[in-house]
Amino acid sequence: MIEIRKLSKIYNTHGTMTHALQDINLTINDGDIFGIIGLSGAGKSSLIRCINLLERPTSGEILIDDVDLTKLSSASLREVRKKIGMIFQQFNLLMNSTVYDNIAFPLKISKVPKREIEKRVDELLELVELKDKKYAYPSQLSGGQKQRVGIARALANKPDIILSDEATSALDPTTTESILNLLKNINKEFGITIVVITHEMSVIKKICDRVAVMENGRIVEEGNVIDIFSNPKTLVARRFLKDMFAELPEGILLDDRNQEEEILRVSFVGDSATKPIISYMIKKFNIDANIIAGTIDRIQNAVVGNLLIKLVGDKESISSAINYLTENKLRIEVLKNNAP
Ligand SMILES: Nc1ncnc2c1ncn2[C@@H]1O[C@H](COP(=O)(O)OP(=O)(O)OP(=O)(O)O)[C@@H](O)[C@H]1O
Ligand SMILES: [Mg+2]
Repeated sequence: MIEIRKLSKIYNTHGTMTHALQDINLTINDGDIFGIIGLSGAGKSSLIRCINLLERPTSGEILIDDVDLTKLSSASLREVRKKIGMIFQQFNLLMNSTVYDNIAFPLKISKVPKREIEKRVDELLELVELKDKKYAYPSQLSGGQKQRVGIARALANKPDIILSDEATSALDPTTTESILNLLKNINKEFGITIVVITHEMSVIKKICDRVAVMENGRIVEEGNVIDIFSNPKTLVARRFLKDMFAELPEGILLDDRNQEEEILRVSFVGDSATKPIISYMIKKFNIDANIIAGTIDRIQNAVVGNLLIKLVGDKESISSAINYLTENKLRIEVLKNNAP
């Protein structure tokens, strides 16, 4: 388990102080794929680099399996770091070394015997599907292949944790997909905890179990991916989800003077998505319902939907209709009504 407690990081560049991280508290459970999302400058890289102490926190604790890394000697820290692999946006490969030597590098540093290194590198090449590139140089590889080398290198010492800083940001969508699948398989097969930093919700949606949203050096929202996708609370989270989380278009008017009108956001997860609840509601309560905007999305194994609907009818019917929706486990938020 990774526990981050009261972490802050202040950079001092020639007397200019940057508060990159402020009072971060986070628990990442073993075997999870944990996403951290935020805009540029939010502090994501600073946070992930503090987890393995590549960056020294200004204050706070980083506990991995109850050991506070900030209190370790450099020799003990080196040992702990072997169990934390890292992958980067720009791959950070040794350009003058072959694929084999890049992957073997951390093993050589760990003084693993040569025969074992050969065996391990071959296993890893098989895993990342690069057997035929064993003696190629990074300049002879595509971006996706380079990242596969990066992943194999990160796995060399059989880590418990992998930290991924924008590992797919330099890749096209298809290659991104295959790298994310590889990370997911590694997580499943070896139970490795993966911390994924990204500015793309699609990455979170595809592989993460939990997500934290960062803004200005703080975590502003955190939770289960499906909960955040179906009910984002902060403006930043909503912006990241704009393709999936319909916002009320400007200029929508409530213009009927004679009847009650309400605009609702209806969100649902799983089963409810497939039930014809809305059409049943219209019939049962004799009201009108216009769908203004809506999305239905599959997130891993769940269906998550979001609808903006305008209900028109008499006051009592509308209130019964809303009760009915709530009873059917739909989440309702009243965005607008024409009540005086
Ligand atoms: N080594 C450094 N020295 C001084 N300031 C830094 C350093 N690294 C980061 N910062 C500052 O800390 C803040 C957070 O930066 P960080 O790189 O952690 O953000 P990020 O969320 O990873 O952004 P991006 O999405 O652009 O990679 C920024 O204001 C940045 O300028
Ligand atoms: Mg960054």
